[in-house]
Amino acid sequence: MTRHFLNLSDAGGDAIAAMIADAIDRKAARAGWPKGKADADAPLAGHTLAMIFEKNSTRTRVSFDMAIRQLGGTSIVMESGSMQLGRGETVADTARILSGFCDAIMIRTDDHAKIEEMAHYATIPVINGLTDMSHPCQIMADLLTVIEHGVALPGSEWAWLGDGNNVLHSIIEAAGLMKFNVRIGVPQGYEPDPRFAEEAQARGAQITVSRDAAEVAKGADIVVTDTWISMGQEHAHNKLAAMMPYQVDAALMALAKPNAKFLHCLPAHRGEEVTADIIDGPQSLIWPEAENRLHAQKSVLLWALGKL
Ligand code: CP
Ligand code: NVA
Repeated sequence: MTRHFLNLSDAGGDAIAAMIADAIDRKAARAGWPKGKADADAPLAGHTLAMIFEKNSTRTRVSFDMAIRQLGGTSIVMESGSMQLGRGETVADTARILSGFCDAIMIRTDDHAKIEEMAHYATIPVINGLTDMSHPCQIMADLLTVIEHGVALPGSEWAWLGDGNNVLHSIIEAAGLMKFNVRIGVPQGYEPDPRFAEEAQARGAQITVSRDAAEVAKGADIVVTDTWISMGQEHAHNKLAAMMPYQVDAALMALAKPNAKFLHCLPAHRGEEVTADIIDGPQSLIWPEAENRLHAQKSVLLWALGKL
Protein backbone atom coordinates (compact mmCIF):
# COMPACT_ATOMS: atom_id res chain seq x y z
CA MET A 1 0.00 0.00 0.00
CA THR A 2 1.18 3.52 -0.77
CA ARG A 3 2.64 5.15 2.32
CA HIS A 4 1.31 8.69 2.63
CA PHE A 5 2.56 10.98 5.42
CA LEU A 6 -0.31 13.42 5.93
CA ASN A 7 -0.25 13.22 9.70
CA LEU A 8 2.05 11.53 12.23
CA SER A 9 -0.46 8.76 12.91
CA ASP A 10 -0.13 7.61 9.29
CA ALA A 11 3.25 6.27 10.39
CA GLY A 12 2.57 5.48 14.07
CA GLY A 13 4.87 5.47 17.09
CA ASP A 14 7.10 2.55 16.10
CA ALA A 15 7.80 3.94 12.63
CA ILE A 16 8.44 7.40 14.09
CA ALA A 17 10.98 5.91 16.52
CA ALA A 18 12.62 4.04 13.62
CA MET A 19 12.75 7.23 11.53
CA ILE A 20 14.38 9.19 14.35
CA ALA A 21 16.94 6.44 14.95
CA ASP A 22 17.74 6.40 11.24
CA ALA A 23 18.08 10.19 11.17
CA ILE A 24 20.55 10.09 14.08
CA ASP A 25 22.63 7.41 12.34
CA ARG A 26 22.64 9.11 8.92
CA LYS A 27 23.47 12.49 10.43
CA ALA A 28 26.46 11.01 12.30
CA ALA A 29 27.66 9.03 9.28
CA ARG A 30 28.02 12.15 7.12
CA ALA A 31 29.28 14.63 9.72
CA GLY A 32 31.63 17.16 8.12
CA TRP A 33 30.82 16.17 4.53
CA PRO A 34 29.89 18.78 1.91
CA LYS A 35 26.13 19.23 2.16
CA GLY A 36 25.44 18.32 -1.46
CA LYS A 37 27.32 15.01 -1.38
CA ALA A 38 25.10 11.92 -1.36
CA ASP A 39 25.10 9.50 1.57
CA ALA A 40 27.39 6.51 1.00
CA ASP A 41 24.49 4.13 0.34
CA ALA A 42 22.45 6.64 -1.77
CA PRO A 43 19.27 4.70 -0.95
CA LEU A 44 16.97 6.79 -3.17
CA ALA A 45 19.22 6.87 -6.25
CA GLY A 46 17.05 7.24 -9.32
CA HIS A 47 14.09 8.64 -7.38
CA THR A 48 12.49 12.02 -8.06
CA LEU A 49 10.54 14.07 -5.52
CA ALA A 50 7.95 16.56 -6.82
CA MET A 51 7.39 19.50 -4.49
CA ILE A 52 4.39 21.83 -4.73
CA PHE A 53 4.15 25.06 -2.77
CA GLU A 54 0.92 26.99 -2.37
CA LYS A 55 2.48 29.01 0.46
CA ASN A 56 5.90 30.48 1.20
CA SER A 57 8.65 28.31 2.63
CA THR A 58 12.36 28.43 3.37
CA ARG A 59 13.09 25.46 5.64
CA THR A 60 10.67 22.95 4.18
CA ARG A 61 11.71 23.73 0.62
CA VAL A 62 15.46 23.60 1.17
CA SER A 63 15.46 20.72 3.65
CA PHE A 64 13.44 18.44 1.35
CA ASP A 65 15.49 19.44 -1.67
CA MET A 66 18.75 18.70 0.13
CA ALA A 67 17.24 15.57 1.68
CA ILE A 68 16.41 13.93 -1.64
CA ARG A 69 19.85 14.92 -3.02
CA GLN A 70 21.65 13.42 -0.02
CA LEU A 71 19.63 10.25 -0.49
CA GLY A 72 20.88 10.09 -4.08
CA GLY A 73 17.71 11.30 -5.78
CA THR A 74 16.56 14.51 -7.40
CA SER A 75 13.71 17.01 -7.12
CA ILE A 76 11.32 19.20 -9.11
CA VAL A 77 10.09 22.25 -7.18
CA MET A 78 6.91 23.99 -8.32
CA GLU A 79 4.94 26.97 -7.10
CA SER A 80 1.27 26.09 -7.54
CA GLY A 81 0.72 29.48 -9.20
CA SER A 82 2.96 28.50 -12.08
CA MET A 83 1.29 25.09 -12.51
CA GLN A 84 -2.01 24.34 -14.23
CA LEU A 85 -3.18 23.53 -10.69
CA GLY A 86 -3.03 27.28 -10.09
CA ARG A 87 -5.52 27.96 -12.87
CA GLY A 88 -8.04 25.28 -12.08
CA GLU A 89 -6.68 21.85 -13.07
CA THR A 90 -8.00 19.57 -10.37
CA VAL A 91 -5.98 18.19 -7.49
CA ALA A 92 -7.06 14.70 -8.56
CA ASP A 93 -5.75 15.13 -12.10
CA THR A 94 -2.52 16.70 -10.83
CA ALA A 95 -2.05 13.72 -8.49
CA ARG A 96 -2.54 11.24 -11.37
CA ILE A 97 -0.17 13.13 -13.66
CA LEU A 98 2.63 13.46 -11.09
CA SER A 99 2.24 9.77 -10.19
CA GLY A 100 3.26 8.93 -13.75
CA PHE A 101 6.35 11.13 -13.70
CA CYS A 102 7.74 11.09 -10.17
CA ASP A 103 8.27 8.81 -7.17
CA ALA A 104 6.86 10.97 -4.34
CA ILE A 105 5.05 14.28 -3.83
CA MET A 106 5.61 16.78 -1.05
CA ILE A 107 2.96 19.49 -0.94
CA ARG A 108 2.44 22.60 1.20
CA THR A 109 -1.17 23.70 0.88
CA ASP A 110 -3.66 26.06 2.46
CA ASP A 111 -6.35 23.42 2.82
CA HIS A 112 -5.87 20.01 4.42
CA ALA A 113 -8.74 18.62 2.31
CA LYS A 114 -6.59 19.16 -0.79
CA ILE A 115 -3.75 16.98 0.50
CA GLU A 116 -6.25 14.27 1.41
CA GLU A 117 -7.64 14.44 -2.11
CA MET A 118 -4.14 14.30 -3.56
CA ALA A 119 -3.32 11.22 -1.48
CA HIS A 120 -6.57 9.60 -2.59
CA TYR A 121 -5.70 9.90 -6.28
CA ALA A 122 -1.90 9.57 -6.18
CA THR A 123 -0.31 6.16 -6.61
CA ILE A 124 2.96 7.47 -5.12
CA PRO A 125 3.51 8.70 -1.53
CA VAL A 126 2.17 12.16 -0.65
CA ILE A 127 3.96 14.01 2.16
CA ASN A 128 2.50 16.92 4.12
CA GLY A 129 4.85 19.91 4.01
CA LEU A 130 2.33 21.93 6.11
CA THR A 131 -1.39 22.46 5.80
CA ASP A 132 -3.73 24.70 7.72
CA MET A 133 -4.33 21.67 9.98
CA SER A 134 -0.95 20.10 10.66
CA HIS A 135 2.82 20.16 10.17
CA PRO A 136 4.04 16.61 10.85
CA CYS A 137 7.45 17.01 9.16
CA GLN A 138 8.30 19.87 11.51
CA ILE A 139 7.48 17.75 14.54
CA MET A 140 9.70 14.92 13.29
CA ALA A 141 12.58 17.43 13.45
CA ASP A 142 11.45 18.63 16.88
CA LEU A 143 11.36 15.10 18.29
CA LEU A 144 14.81 14.39 16.86
CA THR A 145 16.16 17.62 18.38
CA VAL A 146 14.73 16.97 21.81
CA ILE A 147 16.10 13.42 21.90
CA GLU A 148 19.53 14.59 20.66
CA HIS A 149 19.62 17.06 23.56
CA GLY A 150 19.08 14.40 26.17
CA VAL A 151 15.34 14.56 26.83
CA ALA A 152 13.61 11.16 26.86
CA LEU A 153 10.22 11.60 25.19
CA PRO A 154 8.07 9.28 27.36
CA GLY A 155 6.63 11.22 30.27
CA SER A 156 8.28 14.50 29.29
CA GLU A 157 6.27 17.67 29.93
CA TRP A 158 5.83 20.08 27.02
CA ALA A 159 4.43 23.58 27.50
CA TRP A 160 2.88 25.24 24.44
CA LEU A 161 2.20 28.95 24.73
CA GLY A 162 0.20 30.90 22.17
CA ASP A 163 -1.99 30.07 19.19
CA GLY A 164 -3.76 26.71 18.85
CA ASN A 165 -2.44 26.13 15.34
CA ASN A 166 -1.21 23.50 12.84
CA VAL A 167 2.14 23.03 14.60
CA LEU A 168 0.42 22.47 17.95
CA HIS A 169 -1.93 19.91 16.38
CA SER A 170 1.06 17.83 15.28
CA ILE A 171 2.73 18.18 18.70
CA ILE A 172 -0.45 16.89 20.35
CA GLU A 173 -0.57 14.02 17.88
CA ALA A 174 3.08 13.21 18.63
CA ALA A 175 2.32 13.24 22.36
CA GLY A 176 -0.18 10.42 21.94
CA LEU A 177 2.15 8.39 19.75
CA MET A 178 5.38 8.94 21.72
CA LYS A 179 3.81 9.07 25.20
CA PHE A 180 4.54 12.59 26.43
CA ASN A 181 2.30 15.29 27.89
CA VAL A 182 1.37 18.71 26.56
CA ARG A 183 0.11 21.64 28.64
CA ILE A 184 -1.38 24.29 26.42
CA GLY A 185 -1.61 27.96 27.39
CA VAL A 186 -3.95 29.61 24.93
CA PRO A 187 -6.42 32.51 25.04
CA GLN A 188 -10.11 31.80 24.68
CA GLY A 189 -11.18 31.40 21.07
CA TYR A 190 -7.78 30.21 19.83
CA GLU A 191 -7.79 26.67 21.21
CA PRO A 192 -6.57 23.74 19.09
CA ASP A 193 -9.04 21.41 17.37
CA PRO A 194 -10.20 19.17 20.27
CA ARG A 195 -10.08 16.06 18.07
CA PHE A 196 -6.29 15.99 18.35
CA ALA A 197 -6.37 16.07 22.16
CA GLU A 198 -9.12 13.44 22.30
CA GLU A 199 -7.08 11.08 20.15
CA ALA A 200 -3.86 11.70 22.10
CA GLN A 201 -5.64 11.20 25.42
CA ALA A 202 -7.10 7.95 24.16
CA ARG A 203 -3.50 6.87 23.52
CA GLY A 204 -2.54 7.75 27.11
CA ALA A 205 -1.08 11.27 26.83
CA GLN A 206 -2.13 14.03 29.21
CA ILE A 207 -3.26 17.10 27.27
CA THR A 208 -4.49 20.10 29.25
CA VAL A 209 -5.68 23.54 28.19
CA SER A 210 -5.24 26.53 30.51
CA ARG A 211 -5.60 30.30 30.40
CA ASP A 212 -2.74 30.61 32.92
CA ALA A 213 0.63 30.85 31.14
CA ALA A 214 2.60 30.56 34.39
CA GLU A 215 0.81 27.35 35.39
CA VAL A 216 1.54 25.90 31.95
CA ALA A 217 5.24 26.76 31.99
CA LYS A 218 5.85 25.53 35.56
CA GLY A 219 8.19 22.54 35.64
CA ALA A 220 8.15 22.01 31.87
CA ASP A 221 10.96 20.11 30.11
CA ILE A 222 10.19 21.75 26.77
CA VAL A 223 8.75 25.22 26.15
CA VAL A 224 7.48 25.74 22.63
CA THR A 225 5.68 28.44 20.71
CA ASP A 226 5.02 29.59 17.17
CA THR A 227 3.91 32.70 15.32
CA TRP A 228 0.64 34.22 16.49
CA ILE A 229 -0.39 34.83 12.88
CA SER A 230 0.00 31.83 10.58
CA MET A 231 0.23 32.02 6.80
CA GLY A 232 -3.13 32.82 5.29
CA GLN A 233 -4.44 34.40 8.51
CA GLU A 234 -5.31 38.04 8.85
CA HIS A 235 -2.87 40.19 10.86
CA ALA A 236 -5.56 41.01 13.44
CA HIS A 237 -4.66 43.40 16.26
CA ASN A 238 -7.20 41.88 18.64
CA LYS A 239 -5.52 38.48 18.20
CA LEU A 240 -2.09 39.93 18.98
CA ALA A 241 -3.48 41.57 22.12
CA ALA A 242 -5.13 38.33 23.25
CA MET A 243 -1.84 36.46 22.76
CA MET A 244 0.37 38.91 24.67
CA PRO A 245 -0.01 37.20 28.11
CA TYR A 246 1.34 34.01 26.48
CA GLN A 247 4.58 35.56 25.21
CA VAL A 248 7.58 33.40 26.15
CA ASP A 249 9.91 35.71 28.06
CA ALA A 250 12.57 35.27 30.74
CA ALA A 251 10.04 35.33 33.59
CA LEU A 252 7.97 32.55 32.01
CA MET A 253 11.02 30.50 31.04
CA ALA A 254 12.29 30.75 34.64
CA LEU A 255 9.23 28.77 35.75
CA ALA A 256 10.18 25.80 33.58
CA LYS A 257 12.80 23.24 34.71
CA PRO A 258 16.26 24.86 35.05
CA ASN A 259 17.55 22.85 32.08
CA ALA A 260 14.35 23.25 30.02
CA LYS A 261 14.74 23.66 26.27
CA PHE A 262 13.02 26.19 24.02
CA LEU A 263 11.70 25.23 20.57
CA HIS A 264 10.24 27.30 17.72
CA CYS A 265 9.65 26.02 14.20
CA LEU A 266 10.54 29.43 12.71
CA PRO A 267 10.06 31.94 11.20
CA ALA A 268 9.98 33.83 14.52
CA HIS A 269 8.72 37.25 15.49
CA ARG A 270 10.99 38.49 18.27
CA GLY A 271 8.99 40.67 20.66
CA GLU A 272 5.71 38.92 19.81
CA GLU A 273 5.47 35.19 20.65
CA VAL A 274 8.98 35.14 22.16
CA THR A 275 11.46 37.70 23.41
CA ALA A 276 14.90 37.94 21.79
CA ASP A 277 16.75 36.97 25.00
CA ILE A 278 14.97 33.61 25.06
CA ILE A 279 15.01 32.66 21.38
CA ASP A 280 18.67 33.74 21.08
CA GLY A 281 19.59 32.52 24.57
CA PRO A 282 21.30 29.39 25.91
CA GLN A 283 18.13 27.31 26.36
CA SER A 284 17.04 27.79 22.75
CA LEU A 285 17.47 24.88 20.32
CA ILE A 286 16.17 26.71 17.25
CA TRP A 287 19.29 26.27 15.08
CA PRO A 288 19.70 22.52 15.58
CA GLU A 289 15.90 22.25 15.31
CA ALA A 290 16.00 23.96 11.91
CA GLU A 291 18.96 21.91 10.66
CA ASN A 292 17.24 18.75 11.82
CA ARG A 293 14.48 19.39 9.30
CA LEU A 294 16.98 18.01 6.77
CA HIS A 295 17.88 14.90 8.75
CA ALA A 296 14.29 14.18 9.76
CA GLN A 297 12.94 14.73 6.25
CA LYS A 298 15.39 12.20 4.86
CA SER A 299 13.91 9.58 7.16
CA VAL A 300 10.36 10.58 6.22
CA LEU A 301 11.25 10.10 2.54
CA LEU A 302 12.85 6.72 3.27
CA TRP A 303 9.81 5.60 5.25
CA ALA A 304 7.35 6.80 2.60
CA LEU A 305 9.26 4.99 -0.12
CA GLY A 306 9.35 1.76 1.85
CA LYS A 307 13.06 1.81 2.71
CA LEU A 308 12.47 1.98 6.47
N1 CP B 1 9.25 25.74 9.90
C1 CP B 1 8.93 25.79 8.60
O1 CP B 1 8.13 24.99 8.08
O2 CP B 1 9.58 26.76 7.90
P1 CP B 1 9.29 27.21 6.41
O3 CP B 1 7.93 27.88 6.39
O4 CP B 1 10.40 28.16 6.09
O5 CP B 1 9.28 26.01 5.50
N1 NVA C 1 1.97 28.08 12.01
C1 NVA C 1 2.85 28.60 10.98
C2 NVA C 1 4.00 27.66 10.76
C3 NVA C 1 4.99 28.13 9.76
C4 NVA C 1 6.10 27.15 9.51
C5 NVA C 1 2.08 28.82 9.70
O1 NVA C 1 1.24 27.98 9.36
O2 NVA C 1 2.30 29.85 9.06
